[in-house]
Amino acid sequence: MTSIGHAGILVETGQATIVCDPWFLPAFFGSWFVFPRNDRLPDAVMAKVERPDFLYISHLHADHFDEAFLADHISRDTTVLLPDFPTSEMEQLYRRFGFTRFVRTEDAKAVEIAPGLQISIHVQTSLTDGPGGDSALLVDDGSTRLLNMNDCRLHDLSTMGPIDALWLQFSGAIWYPMVYEVPEEDKRRQVKAKVESQFARAISYVHAIGARAVVPSAGPPCFLDEDLWGNNVITGDELSIFPDATEFERRLRADGVDTCRMVVPGSCVEVTEADVTVTHADPDWRRPFDRKLEYLREYQQDWASWLTAHKAGWHAPSDTLLDEVRAWWEPLLAAAPSVRKAIGANALLTAGDLPILIDFPNGQVRRHAGEAYAYSFTIPRELVETVVARRAVDWSNALFLSCRFTAWREGGYKEELYNFFKSLSPERMARAEAQAAGTTVIPQTDDEVTIGSFVVERFCPHRQADLGTFGELDGDGCTMTCTLHGWKFDLRTGACLNAPDRPIRVRPA
Ligand code: FES
Repeated sequence: MTSIGHAGILVETGQATIVCDPWFLPAFFGSWFVFPRNDRLPDAVMAKVERPDFLYISHLHADHFDEAFLADHISRDTTVLLPDFPTSEMEQLYRRFGFTRFVRTEDAKAVEIAPGLQISIHVQTSLTDGPGGDSALLVDDGSTRLLNMNDCRLHDLSTMGPIDALWLQFSGAIWYPMVYEVPEEDKRRQVKAKVESQFARAISYVHAIGARAVVPSAGPPCFLDEDLWGNNVITGDELSIFPDATEFERRLRADGVDTCRMVVPGSCVEVTEADVTVTHADPDWRRPFDRKLEYLREYQQDWASWLTAHKAGWHAPSDTLLDEVRAWWEPLLAAAPSVRKAIGANALLTAGDLPILIDFPNGQVRRHAGEAYAYSFTIPRELVETVVARRAVDWSNALFLSCRFTAWREGGYKEELYNFFKSLSPERMARAEAQAAGTTVIPQTDDEVTIGSFVVERFCPHRQADLGTFGELDGDGCTMTCTLHGWKFDLRTGACLNAPDRPIRVRPA
């Protein structure tokens, strides 16, 4: 397994090669760059990346599904391994780029893609899991087993079996809380809580899976635009959820885990039944971490002209923005009464000098005229114009992950609000509506687990994580964190501290 940057892996087995998540060009309005950089991979590696036997992309986020790279670099003879997502968007995108060979998989079901080479793709398909879902890839070549989990939040590990190499995300991949308008001390607290929950989740996976080698993967990115520079964790004091792999390595060691294998693009992890070895292409491979400021400044310099040209392509202000948003969104709002009810308040979308009110209770979009609102987003106009001109159906992917905006909310996190912004097509909104209406079936069970001095229902009310694996008692002895997404529960009452409408069943042990 050769790291090709971020979540990218070139997997070479005796039978075939599989390229996973090849991401090379900056994503999200030029905000995210691959860290450490992968623009200098050896030609021999790039030749294999561009002509693999199989291509697997875990999900549609732009730091995984790099449309520009796919369009120009990957051979159309490649066979694509398709996750079992509920919508066909991913296959349609591949077809648009000229790919015609597909292996359509079923969730968690093993399929032999070459003699003696089996894979299975495990999917997570709730709207929280991203556009169309997220997935993890298990590769079994008959002697060793690789689990590429990237960003995927698997909550059922029971069918996984023994794993030799686990490639795992540990860092954040969200705009929260950096963009929120809150006092600095509150933001510092939120950043700390988020970072701790990210590490806790990753460490839960490391213990639950027990792989022979754990490879930190799928982030963090770095931010080379001066406007976003503060998101890079260099001194450790930044208000950012993007600590790098050295911190994960340190925490794993402190937790008694000695299986962490650090990689940078070009590093090769070789796993045999007897051994795990890592070979780095660059003898100075720790420089991105050890001399990070110098490294990032050099990287920034090298990509400055690219960034300037990229920004010049953002859409200029038009006269029709409000009309276009209204014509696009009002039919979607009409089709989603349960989503609107769950959101229950107005949202203000300030696109540069244009204040747009999304009146969720009444299903209308209009110019803001002083009405009260519970949520607000302030976004540069040219970014809103760009995503509207593209009719981007998922604004978390197309816009929010850029971190180029500020946000405010009156109360706690409202999942349905973000589900709305991820579902800006009739097909997607139908799923969001079904989820909000409660017509998607959530399995009920009497299973329980003991957490400290409490017995709680086994599966988290948020996304049914197994709390036997992901439930952690906080230091106060009466708050439990579900480390899959970091939701907290007061075990004295069962109240969910993130979403009041999702309490947990609990009794004293
Ligand atoms: S499953 Fe998301 S916090 Fe528990």
